[in-house]
Amino acid sequence: MFTLPHLKPIKPYKSIALLTSGGDSPGMNPAIRGIVRAALNSGIENVYGIQRGYSGLIAGDIQKLSSRSVTNIVQRGGTMLKSARCLEFKDSTIRAKAAKILHEKGIEALIVIGGDGSMTGAHLLTEETGIPVIGLPGTIDNDIPGSDDTIGFDTAVNTALEAIDKIRDTALSHERLFLVEVMGRNSGFIATQVGIACGAELVVVPEYEFDLHDLCVALAEQRASGQGSSGIIVIAEGKDPGLTSRIAYQLEEQGQDPKICILGHIQRGGSPSGHDRMLASCLGASAVQYLLAGYNDIMVGLRQGAVIDIPLRRVISEKKTLDQNIFDITTLLHK
Ligand code: ADP
Ligand code: F6P
Repeated sequence: MFTLPHLKPIKPYKSIALLTSGGDSPGMNPAIRGIVRAALNSGIENVYGIQRGYSGLIAGDIQKLSSRSVTNIVQRGGTMLKSARCLEFKDSTIRAKAAKILHEKGIEALIVIGGDGSMTGAHLLTEETGIPVIGLPGTIDNDIPGSDDTIGFDTAVNTALEAIDKIRDTALSHERLFLVEVMGRNSGFIATQVGIACGAELVVVPEYEFDLHDLCVALAEQRASGQGSSGIIVIAEGKDPGLTSRIAYQLEEQGQDPKICILGHIQRGGSPSGHDRMLASCLGASAVQYLLAGYNDIMVGLRQGAVIDIPLRRVISEKKTLDQNIFDITTLLHK
């Protein structure tokens, strides 16, 4: 169970809006529901949903949401508001246009659910135009500074694990080596957690060097001792496309016969886990309470089980590091 902040409402907002932006994540829907219901039950009269992230904002694609319009979404993956990447929002004149649209509709504040890019857009919007904004960390990557957890990470990890457990069955039957690629362009949080939880023989992440030669020696020893040559290597996709194929090629050169399985966008979909529904609901409701308590330019996140606020400036200027001790567990648990 999370600890929630005790906040006193001092700002009588009447109209707020929310949007989802960047890569979608399982739990965005319960976050939307949490915001809409908490706002309407706290005296905010109008709650607007903006379609397709910042793209819908600058296009004025904005509709009023009621308590009924968020019925039956708590268990659904994806986002009912749709998500998008909107490169134009990096331009300050476009952000000024967005603020004008919000003013024209009488919208006084904005809640943004998304990843680090979305938090950057939110921070710049409030800094330049004065529109109060609150961010919520919504990404499967769990790479947002200031929050231990992000909405969607837990579900994505469980989705990958379910797939890898199945791959392990066939890997064992055929004594094969599998390279399983998980998401994580810039970070290895998914790969590390998945690697530990599935008992991977090796985990490859963008943050740390790996030694393929050592792995080949270990695999050869395993085969020589009659243990067979099955195994799972979990690889975070990384920045450069084709990393998993390159590792497979190197392994082939060392006499291995690896099979590749790229889990891809399957990790972004599916019904949010119990943990993600709880996290999203609590962060969504708390975002409204922070707003009514007069906070601005913050992200609402989770630290050591407590819902907390972090200045957006900090969120976007820092990098969340993958703890070396956690990563070391991936090798410490080997036979
Ligand atoms: P995520 O939010 O999941 O990290 P992106 O990095 O694609 O995903 O960012 C989502 C959106 O946030 C972008 O399409 C853009 O609209 C906005 N955004 C990203 N970076 C910036 C930036 N530097 N300035 C303003 N807006 C940005
Ligand atoms: O949501 C984050 C993320 O899943 C990254 O891990 C991944 O690299 C990226 O999104 C892929 O997103 P898209 O295919 O939508 O560009």
